[in-house]
Amino acid sequence: EKGGYDHYMLKEIHEQPTALRQALSGRIDLERGTADLDLTFPAGFLDSLDEIQFVACGTSFYAAHYAAHLTESFADVRATAELASEYTVDGGGDPRRTLTVAVTQSGETADTLGALRRANGTGIRTLAVTNTLGSTVTRDADDSLFIRAGPEIGVAATKTFASQVTTMALLSVFVAQERNALSAADARDVLTDLRGLPGAVQQVLDDAGDVREAATAFVDASAYFFVSRAHGYPVALEGALKLKEIAYDHAEGFAAGELKHGPLALVTEDTPILAVLTEGTRPEETLNNVAEAQTRGAPAIGIVDGSVETNSLDTAFSVPSLGPVTPLVANVYFQLFAYAIANQQGRSIDKPRNLAKSVTVE
Ligand code: M6R
Repeated sequence: EKGGYDHYMLKEIHEQPTALRQALSGRIDLERGTADLDLTFPAGFLDSLDEIQFVACGTSFYAAHYAAHLTESFADVRATAELASEYTVDGGGDPRRTLTVAVTQSGETADTLGALRRANGTGIRTLAVTNTLGSTVTRDADDSLFIRAGPEIGVAATKTFASQVTTMALLSVFVAQERNALSAADARDVLTDLRGLPGAVQQVLDDAGDVREAATAFVDASAYFFVSRAHGYPVALEGALKLKEIAYDHAEGFAAGELKHGPLALVTEDTPILAVLTEGTRPEETLNNVAEAQTRGAPAIGIVDGSVETNSLDTAFSVPSLGPVTPLVANVYFQLFAYAIANQQGRSIDKPRNLAKSVTVE
């Protein structure tokens, strides 16, 4: 049942190329340069939107954070990601010009359903982005968009994160086109990058042995710090969450620019720093922040795509450049790294202590 893998998590990490192909299947028309999603909104609704709010928890929140970046950059609309448990509708804009997107793999997370209920209560139009047909979120939201990742058994979300970001990247192109914010040529570039995802993720998976080997050197670290900027930042947060969840080690994700505003005091030679340094995430600046950590003795591991000179890193892993979705490919290295660290410590990877796959209490 685990397909020859030691854990469901590892199996699901390796299922990502297939999951991504499914997420994209039939949804890209390269010739016309359009994202074809089976979604119908009232005439003029997307065009007149003031704001798109993504609400979610945990890993889905980081996917939402990534999606908000993409939506703002393509669709010329204010886009925010909010933790579902903190979401209030007070002080928001005109509910008729707002779209709230509830992002939940299971479709049953109580905090996310609560946020959705609050949005529905003010008359805001709502959309569910989920992996689960027939789940509560699909009944409670006005519309649903499926990420088609297939079942995920491991408590740690892996392939569903990749499928959520990919599906919401399509959504951001769809919204952008309805708003005439993105030319067909620019849309075609993004869609071509998306089409490259399954192959690029496969390339990273083919390097899994190297990651395992590199992780061996860091298994006794006292903490792990993940940094990046822009849409690399949610991936840094996600990388840290995976380590916390399955290895029970202290890990934090920081916006790289914030390191010097406090967290740098935590940095020692026992705190490796892992950075996403790919095009569009302002890698030169992040590399300077990484250098400040290296000066304090921290080993530096970078995920790079050749967009900056990274000779100063102690270890580098390469990803192909795929424009705005490159950090999503970088994330696969973080998944493999967390898995390797947890596995070397003999952790209960598929069912970490104290955690449940679906959190149905607020
Ligand atoms: O089912 P959901 O996507 O709503 O779940 C949200 C979080 O509980 C979930 O992503 C959690 O953070 C994962 N265990 C992370 O790996």
